[in-house]
Amino acid sequence: MKIGALKEIFDGEARVAITPSSAVHLAKLGHTVFVESGAGARAGFSDDDYAKAGVTVSRTAAELVGAVDLLAKVRPATEAEIGQMRAGQTLISFFYPAQNADLLARAKDQGITAIAMDMVPRISRAQKMDALSSMANIAGYRAVIEAANNFGRFFTGQVTAAGKVPPAKVLVVGAGVAGLAAIGTSVSLGAQVHAFDVRPEVAEQIESMGAEFVYLEFDQQVQDGAATGGYAAPSSPEFREKQLAKFRELAPQMDIVITTALIPGRDAPKLWTADMVAMMKQGSVIIDLAAEKGGNCDLTVPDERIVTENGVTIVGYTDFPSRMGAQASELYGNNIRHFVADLTPAKDGVIVHNMEDDVIRGATVARDHDVTWPPPPPKIAAIAAQKPKEKKKELTPDERRAAEAAAFKADTANQIKLLVGGGLVVLLIGLVAPASFMSHFIVFVLACFVGFRVIWNVAHSLHTPLMAITNAISSIIILGALMQIGSGSAWVVILGALAVLMASVNIFGGFMVTRRMLAMFQKS
Ligand code: NAI
Repeated sequence: MKIGALKEIFDGEARVAITPSSAVHLAKLGHTVFVESGAGARAGFSDDDYAKAGVTVSRTAAELVGAVDLLAKVRPATEAEIGQMRAGQTLISFFYPAQNADLLARAKDQGITAIAMDMVPRISRAQKMDALSSMANIAGYRAVIEAANNFGRFFTGQVTAAGKVPPAKVLVVGAGVAGLAAIGTSVSLGAQVHAFDVRPEVAEQIESMGAEFVYLEFDQQVQDGAATGGYAAPSSPEFREKQLAKFRELAPQMDIVITTALIPGRDAPKLWTADMVAMMKQGSVIIDLAAEKGGNCDLTVPDERIVTENGVTIVGYTDFPSRMGAQASELYGNNIRHFVADLTPAKDGVIVHNMEDDVIRGATVARDHDVTWPPPPPKIAAIAAQKPKEKKKELTPDERRAAEAAAFKADTANQIKLLVGGGLVVLLIGLVAPASFMSHFIVFVLACFVGFRVIWNVAHSLHTPLMAITNAISSIIILGALMQIGSGSAWVVILGALAVLMASVNIFGGFMVTRRMLAMFQKS
């Protein structure tokens, strides 16, 4: 199959759908790769780079469209671009079918198979094709860099000879992909970060990143993310009121507000109102990532940077990923090539458009002169659909004492049963075994019992010192075994060799696990 990428004609768009490195992967799937001349120039990839990667460079868009079976793009196709395509060709790009009804009708009429990268369902298997997430990740990072650029102070707090600098206070509204990237970047720059989201299950994630989750005193019903493809559902008016009241309380304290709240297929919810902007300090910055969908802030002007009368800068750029064209193209190119890999199951250059596959079905919006959007909900539960842990019911002191007494009774009964059972077994063995065996056997059983009780109750944080002790014990076992291994009895030799083997596995296995654990904490 011939696959090609067009040069993006949208004003200022720096990304390209196929990079030299993703082209190499596409070729490994058995495809021949084409790009339009100059397609990668703004992302830093020259025609020469493509040629070196084995890509054929077409001189014009028309030449490229005429040559290929599958056309890859970043932005949705324009009238002119889709007009050049022929029936049976496949177009893979961002498409936004809900907002682009005309484009969808055009694809249907022309018999084009349209794959919308923005419709890839958020299920675990499709993460590598999730272009919305990879672009949102870049946008979240870039939002913080943009905020820092517009903010006249440090992010991190400092105590210097010239004076004390407090850390910047950042509020991130919406902790989806972009929000989490913004939280991570702000925390690593040293800011004091607060974050809010309507999905309570993200609280733990936010806190584990070093930010503070903004809790509302509201019993919001847990949302079923699976039914919405892993996204949030709209919140109730009462919840919204609570949320806005909390934001009004926070507005005067925050230096930087990054809003990323989104419910797919809807206009961005208005969460940062004009009165909140008025309450903010002079020099504060708002980065509204939802600007393209109307903005989360009342005063956002899409694609513009404005400064309000009270000196608050509001940035409404809608092209953050494009502002990091090289990185964004690499990630988008990877998303595309993973999708193509799913379309090429035998890696033989033959595209199999399997509409039974959740991911392919979900992303296909037009096919065989038919509109196939919206897709049925994915059969697999979405990633974000994990239910939050149920809160334990608060017990009164009397209830707690009764529960503790019941647990103690059950525990004691179990221990008595075990003791009586164990005693009987020892007695039975004692009836047949010689006295010398019994004294060793009882010591062995007691050692096992004490060892088990001690190790079972060791806290996780103490497992590493515990491993050091077991290594010492293993070494004693090896020494003992080595002293016995020379004896004449075949059984003693076999048992000695087995003891050396198992103790060595324990020691070396322990070292390997420790090494891997330490590597997890090392910065590469
Ligand atoms: P996402 O769906 O992963 O995250 C959105 C988050 O907002 C979710 O966690 C959701 O629970 C939360 N949310 C929804 N309603 C809320 C409310 N009322 N209050 C608080 N939180 C609420 O979306 P993703 O991928 O992180 O994108 C975020 C935004 O960034 C979108 O609007 C997207 O269009 C935009 N974006 C902007 C770019 C730019 O260049 N400006 C580039 C890429 C994405």
